Amino acid sequence: MSKEIVVSGIRSTGFLHLGNYFGAMQNYVKMQDEYNCYFFVADYHSLTTHPDPKDLRGNVYRVVAENVASGLDPEKVALYAQSDIPEIPELYLMLNMLAYKGELEKVPTFKDKVRLQPDNVNAGLLTYPVLMTADILIHKAVKVPVGKDQEQHVEMARNFAHRFNSRYSEMFPMPYPFNYGDSLIKVPSLDGAGKMSKSENINATLYLADDDDAIRKKVMKAKTDAGPTEHNSEMPDYIQNIFQLMHLVSKPEITDTFRSAYNNCTIRYGDMKKQLAEDMVAFIAPIREKAAELQKDEAQLQKILREGAEKARISASATIAEARKLIGINYY
Ligand code: TRP
Repeated sequence: MSKEIVVSGIRSTGFLHLGNYFGAMQNYVKMQDEYNCYFFVADYHSLTTHPDPKDLRGNVYRVVAENVASGLDPEKVALYAQSDIPEIPELYLMLNMLAYKGELEKVPTFKDKVRLQPDNVNAGLLTYPVLMTADILIHKAVKVPVGKDQEQHVEMARNFAHRFNSRYSEMFPMPYPFNYGDSLIKVPSLDGAGKMSKSENINATLYLADDDDAIRKKVMKAKTDAGPTEHNSEMPDYIQNIFQLMHLVSKPEITDTFRSAYNNCTIRYGDMKKQLAEDMVAFIAPIREKAAELQKDEAQLQKILREGAEKARISASATIAEARKLIGINYY
């Protein structure tokens, strides 16, 4: 049986952090052995906010380097830049004819953007879910690893796929969001407020590019208190968060030792944070170093992108040929 097809897009803006690592990248790395994976840098999507042209290449290189350093293997998956696949904008154009202004205006992520950037409500922003649909359908993907915030976009992709199928012919399988059960692990921020994410407090977020000192400083600043006074008392959120982070990067015995110390009121949070800081450094440093090395190797990055695009275009061109024919664009 042929392997199921997986597509996911990686944003090219912002630095990758531990939340991305455990939320998205680890999923990709796991999927690469089981599925036929297409992972791309969503550089066309990033144009909605008009990034400085000087920054594009560096952003794309960095994202590719960080993903490869985290374990994504360009030999196993097609890793490419969205803009290297001209079939994607072609399918996007076709799908735009089936997408209605009213439904696009109702999308919550669009409404958020309208609120956040009222001066730049461009058509690309409105049709973002259509481009995302083209990204997915161009390879006839059925599994789309995404976070919660993107699930509605995948639902729209199903609607558009269904609309195309009913108008022309059953051509596209239905794509669904996909996550391994344990990938919904939350990666808390270091200030006790919510998850680590790009937009929030940079001092409470650990980036894969942070140097050892920055990691130590951020971890040591995490909020704690004087410690529990009663045995087996309930943990405040911000203490649970430190345990949660430790659980992600430290040996289980170490976490257990601190948990027992918490339960019998002998815990010293300073020691716990020192331990966490060192384990975090040991976890992040090799990824950071590998990514930095690859980022300097432009020839290698270009090779990865070129070969990724070659693989992706095989299935993209087959899909477009089929779609053109069904639509009736078939003149000679
Ligand atoms: N919109 C996604 C995000 O912001 C990125 C993305 C673009 C994507 N195209 C996609 C994800 C196709 C999955 C499939 O994270």
